[in-house]
Amino acid sequence: DALITSINHSSPPSSTKRHLKISIIGTGNVGMAIAQTILTQDLVDELALVDALPEKLRGEMLDLQHAAAFLPRTTISASTDYAVTANSDLCIVTAGARQNPGESRLNLLQRNVGLFKKIVPPLVQYSPDCTLMVVSNPVDILTYVAWKLSGFTTNRVIGSGTNLDSSRFRSLVADHLDVNAQDVQAYIIGEHGDSSVALWSGISIAGVPVLNFLDKKQIPYKKETLEKIHKEVVNCAYEVIKLKGYTSWAVGYSVASLARSILRDQRRIHPVSVLAKGFYGIEGGDVFLSLPAQLGRAGILGVANVPISEEEAEQLRKSATTILELQAQLGD
Ligand code: NAI
Ligand code: LAC
Repeated sequence: DALITSINHSSPPSSTKRHLKISIIGTGNVGMAIAQTILTQDLVDELALVDALPEKLRGEMLDLQHAAAFLPRTTISASTDYAVTANSDLCIVTAGARQNPGESRLNLLQRNVGLFKKIVPPLVQYSPDCTLMVVSNPVDILTYVAWKLSGFTTNRVIGSGTNLDSSRFRSLVADHLDVNAQDVQAYIIGEHGDSSVALWSGISIAGVPVLNFLDKKQIPYKKETLEKIHKEVVNCAYEVIKLKGYTSWAVGYSVASLARSILRDQRRIHPVSVLAKGFYGIEGGDVFLSLPAQLGRAGILGVANVPISEEEAEQLRKSATTILELQAQLGD
């Protein structure tokens, strides 16, 4: 007397749909914002959570499970033991120290490298075929660290990078021009942080390159206005951290959009942190910086050859040098 009477006793047809699993390491503000966005978007069949604090972790798991009646069906598990992450398609690392108000992302390096040495090896052990997505800061250097620790090929180690900065940029440009941010194509590349680079000549709306259009129509604009918008992008996180202590919602949506492009093989272009050596004259070592990259089931499928000005390339090379200097201090 089952509650639901089965009408077909033969074995169910084997599903052609792949079982998809994401693990999130670190269930703080950022990890939970990503988790909740992923759940609402029906991205995976299984979500595993790991944190160092067992009580907080169990509390977060139960709280999400209690929303089951309102969400697409997803199995949610949590443990301090990495066995819970076994056979993940995507592992998202958000664990670690965050900035105090006014503190730079780069300042977090030593604290978070130590944690990555404990986090990345078990992830690789339990999910040798996964893609690793690094979110903890400083994200570019930690993506390099995760790449080294994992032994993965570079297409499978991705930093969330300036996908978030680009969303902030698009929203500010959209406000300025009174259009929808989704219709603004615009990239911030380079370091996720203070030395990021805005690609002004590449901004387009409805397929129209904006600065080129203004020049052609002889509509004047001030370079300072552009610089002010970029400054605002760089300052965004500092402002939010000062006001509420941390940033979470925007990065949640940003990382969920990356997860969707990867797991659903969307082949969309996102500015994310990739091995940037060899692009735009970047030399001197293995450095991860954000460039517009195509994402799909195999992780990074390629890097878009976006034309940038010599001034922008120079700025990129400068942040590459800064990051390489910090990496050189890391040792083994
Ligand atoms: P949080 O303090 O709320 O959460 C961090 C979590 O990591 C805590 O739950 C803590 O217990 C956990 N943790 C610490 N050591 C661990 C270990 N060994 N194993 C597993 N879990 C461990 O911090 P929040 O606000 O969630 O920020 C997390 C990180 O994300 C920070 O480094 C922050 O700077 C970064 N971030 C990156 C963004 C990006 O766009 N890349 C955007 C926003 C934040
Ligand atoms: C951000 C974090 C702090 O929101 O990196 O940009």
